[in-house]
Amino acid sequence: MSNESTTIVGISGSLRAASYNAGLLRAAAALFPAQIRIAPIRGIPLYDADLEERDGVPAQVQALKDQIAAASGLLLVSPEYNNAIPGVMKNAVDWLTRPSEDIARVFGDKPVAVIGVSPGGFGTILAQNAWLSVLRTLRTRPYFGGRLMVSGARKLFDEQGELQDEETRERLRTFLEGFIAFAEG
Ligand code: FNR
Repeated sequence: MSNESTTIVGISGSLRAASYNAGLLRAAAALFPAQIRIAPIRGIPLYDADLEERDGVPAQVQALKDQIAAASGLLLVSPEYNNAIPGVMKNAVDWLTRPSEDIARVFGDKPVAVIGVSPGGFGTILAQNAWLSVLRTLRTRPYFGGRLMVSGARKLFDEQGELQDEETRERLRTFLEGFIAFAEG
């Protein structure tokens, strides 16, 4: 059903080794190994315009920009911090928008989906809302064909952050089938 040439770059916004969000992304990539590529953001420095002026965009950021530009879609797996986007993840995306003349190449009309997981009861709903203004600013093509907010993470993931719950895996599969079809279109 899915086109083998469809590639989705998946980014988890948590650096934690046993991160639920990184685990959700690994589960996504395991369901669709031909389509989903995990791109780490560890190592991206804090954005500093002086650093950019002196050294340009870091090589890791440049490589990720090129990977996203070449991909059919972008999957953001976002934790929620203080009802908003975690700084680590926003920082990575801010770097990806530099220089601004390159935004259209990297993000313009790019199919983008946001999913997330939290131990609490709301499953990152407010972080997902917070991403909307970023996705609009970058003129992406957000996926609104489904939503995936995974709550109560402690019962669904093991201590290494691996997804253990089959109902959640099926919700993830359904969401991704829809998003991959959207990204192919
Ligand atoms: C949180 N957490 C949290 N959870 C939530 O559902 N809504 C929130 O607003 C917040 N706020 C928040 C702020 C800060 C500073 C931290 C460190 C944590 C809890 C958060 O969902 C939890 O730590 C997750 O485990 C983070 O995702 P990873 O690292 O497991 O992927």
